[in-house]
Amino acid sequence: MIKVEGVAKSYGSIKVLDNVSLEIKAGKTVGIVGPSGSGKTTLLRVIAGLDTADRGIVTIDGIPASIPELVIGPSGRNISAVFQVPALWPHMTVQENLDYVHTRERGNAKGLMESVGLSMLVDRNPSELSGGEARRVSIVRGLLADRKYLLMDEPLVNLNPQLKSMLHEVIMEWTVGKRMGVLYITHDRKELDYADIVYVLSHGLLETES
Ligand SMILES: Nc1ncnc2c1ncn2[C@@H]1O[C@H](COP(=O)(O)OP(=O)(O)OP(=O)(O)O)[C@@H](O)[C@H]1O
Ligand SMILES: [Mg+2]
Repeated sequence: MIKVEGVAKSYGSIKVLDNVSLEIKAGKTVGIVGPSGSGKTTLLRVIAGLDTADRGIVTIDGIPASIPELVIGPSGRNISAVFQVPALWPHMTVQENLDYVHTRERGNAKGLMESVGLSMLVDRNPSELSGGEARRVSIVRGLLADRKYLLMDEPLVNLNPQLKSMLHEVIMEWTVGKRMGVLYITHDRKELDYADIVYVLSHGLLETES
């Protein structure tokens, strides 16, 4: 389980996260919605180890990952992430991007690429992909990574409705089937109908939906 306790983070005088606590358990999906600028990406970055909190702790399977005296970097956490802006490694082909994170035990990479309609693009460089294609590759890479937890920041934004529902199916089936613990950030509440719990991030605090 990822446990976030009392996390606070300010940028200058602006308090983005005030006192945020949540748990992400293996096999469960935690959804977060909230207005633009409410701190969703900031929270993801703290959990992933890309940002440091001013206060509070993050533990992963009982091991401290962020505490005041210590911050373990992203690669030392059992976490993969799909970022709001697809961040494919530019010097690697699509296939190399996937191979870098994938182990055979994780499942069928080829089948997954086929199911999202991308198998003919594996030899391309990221600069040769459309925005939607790059987004799909970044989702596939996040799913294939041999990690227990997956953090996703607006993974389906700017995809057409057909692709969106297809990708959504794939994400649900894969993460539930592999018992991944998922943090799913979105503006689109409909994407969280399958989530085990949905929080609203507002004024630096997480509240369960009323
Ligand atoms: N590095 C930074 N320096 C200063 N302010 C920042 C920095 N990163 C984010 N912020 C500010 O912190 C606030 C929260 O940003 P964040 O990206 O977490 O919001 P968000 O909820 O993900 O928004 P969106 O839905 O638009 O993606 C915003 O007001 C933003 O301008
Ligand atoms: Mg964001």
